[in-house]
Amino acid sequence: TPTFRIAVIPGDGIGKEVMPEGLRVVQAAAARFGFELDCRVFDWASADYYAAHGQMMPDDWKEQLKGVDALYFGAVGWPATVPDHVSLWGSLLKFRREFDQYINLRPVRLFEGVPCPLAGRKPGDIDYLVVRENTEGEYTSLGGVMYAGTEREIVIQESVFSRHGTDRVLRFAYETARARERRHLTVATKSNGIAISMPWWDGRADAIGLDYPEVTVDKQHIDILSARFVLQPTRFDVVVASNLFGDILSDLGPATTGTIGLAPSANLNPERRFPSLFEPVHGSAPDIYGQNIANPIAMIWSGALMLDFLTQGQSAGRAAHDAILGAIEAVLRDGPRTRDLGGSANTTEVGIAIAERVSAS
Ligand code: NAD
Ligand code: IPM
Ligand code: MN
Repeated sequence: TPTFRIAVIPGDGIGKEVMPEGLRVVQAAAARFGFELDCRVFDWASADYYAAHGQMMPDDWKEQLKGVDALYFGAVGWPATVPDHVSLWGSLLKFRREFDQYINLRPVRLFEGVPCPLAGRKPGDIDYLVVRENTEGEYTSLGGVMYAGTEREIVIQESVFSRHGTDRVLRFAYETARARERRHLTVATKSNGIAISMPWWDGRADAIGLDYPEVTVDKQHIDILSARFVLQPTRFDVVVASNLFGDILSDLGPATTGTIGLAPSANLNPERRFPSLFEPVHGSAPDIYGQNIANPIAMIWSGALMLDFLTQGQSAGRAAHDAILGAIEAVLRDGPRTRDLGGSANTTEVGIAIAERVSAS
């Protein structure tokens, strides 16, 4: 039996509530499709660990993760006790960088049975993939404050776009677009106002695009692109964006499909030199934590992406992925549903309903 080693990191807040449902479903899929998941749970990368140790992770976190095939990650952040930039730079952002997970894949899809906040839209109208650059760009710790505390105070925060980092995410996006039916790529930039890095991004998109004549390309400024996510979602197939723009688009997109509680993500090191990380797009949601009402589907769908990636699209993993997606579709259509979708079911009930359908598939 093929066995995969999974590091399970629930994190904070609703990460701890949706993770058991994610595990329930991926384990059901493993049992049904004939592979084994050897899961080890880590309690670090959490505000509780920080409270006890003054840091988010043990110094030997990398050692502890040696040999794992993937990280299954809930959410980190508890701003009441740890500043967000401390908790996130000390955990998730560290994984993305140290494991060179330079692709953040974030599918956006409107499902049958989910009320769409956009008037007149039906399933099929919203079905695209955000490919977010995940290791550089606007997310840096480069810069500083000068003349702090005076009226002359100056803050500088640098952005970093390397040719290597930009070309590889663009190439991945072109490859992904070419493999899809519509073969369309939208490049999100802001080459009017951000006058150095963004025209350069557009130039790199043109250069890489020479290798992909089958892919049609639409470069859009991020401001109007955001408006079109709302007004013309059928325009989109694959959307590639820098780290920050991709972050914003990957909350906006799911919001147009009814809730961010559905949105999954795959933080990939495509070459598999390091483990990849699978997590919901959403955060720890302190405002609803402790009630067991969070939607577990983002966590569960992320688990499906994990199984597909781990098995490299081999039949058992692809079948497991498809079975989980099918179960999610069925439960969104027929219930039970959590409150963000207008239902009254709790987190556990939705997890069980999806797991049962996977086992019966
Ligand atoms: P959030 O995603 O945690 O919550 C935003 C809103 O969406 C809240 O009203 C919340 O109740 C709701 N929501 C989120 N997930 C839901 C779900 N599964 N079901 C139902 N409703 C859901 O974003 P935030 O409030 O900006 O951040 C809270 C904390 O999470 C912060 O510490 C932030 O830094 C952190 N965060 C972590 C991650 C991550 O670990 N990947 C992602 C985003 C935010
Ligand atoms: C996400 C999150 C993170 C990000 C935060 C928590 C640092 O919002 O994964 O989308 O901005 O990348
Ligand atoms: Mn985000």
